[in-house]
Amino acid sequence: MSDFAGEMRAAALRWPMHEARLVRLVESGRCPRSLLQKMAARLFQLARRFTGDLAHLAELAPGADLKLFLIGNLLEESGTRIVPGQGLRLDADAVHLNWARAFARACGLDDGALEERIARAPAIDYGWFDRALERRDWLGGTGYLLAQEFNTPRTLAPMLRGLSGMGFGAEDLTFFSVHIVDDEQHGGDGLALLAREATSAGTRAEVLAGIEHGAYDWWQAHN
Ligand SMILES: [Fe+2]
Repeated sequence: MSDFAGEMRAAALRWPMHEARLVRLVESGRCPRSLLQKMAARLFQLARRFTGDLAHLAELAPGADLKLFLIGNLLEESGTRIVPGQGLRLDADAVHLNWARAFARACGLDDGALEERIARAPAIDYGWFDRALERRDWLGGTGYLLAQEFNTPRTLAPMLRGLSGMGFGAEDLTFFSVHIVDDEQHGGDGLALLAREATSAGTRAEVLAGIEHGAYDWWQAHN
């Protein structure tokens, strides 16, 4: 690993996500149902927003490697597969948003209650990320999202243990089990690609700023 790749990784891992308050509470198996419902609605909001953000970054990315990586990630999020001889095929069972919906249902929120709750909740504020998109800072923006993706398994894995102990079934928790594996891979691969793209002091500073803000906001969102 290059020095810069190591620096990026260290910035992404600055906060002990498994020790965040919400993570520890869910891991304990004693999280009140009302808080689980709030968390489920937020997960759904995050998953809904994520595809739009990936599309935004894919459109901004000037290099083919990172653009393809972001598009691949977007297809996966959307449950869309490339099938030789057929083209793109949608698999409803592989749509990430549907996994978030299944968890919400298991928490007692049917689709109507979920939408109602989201309509009442404040929009997810990605402050720094949104401003990065406004100034077309795709390196910082990608660093921000990748830092969060890279940290996702560090928050979801302890939560999955707690939720399993509370009686949630494997199908209720697909959102957790899949992202624990996939996001480690996506986050790691994406950070390695970004390290190759950012070769000047200026671009490296942009990437690092994005990673630092992304990791910090993820930490704050779980405390
Ligand atoms: Fe996802």
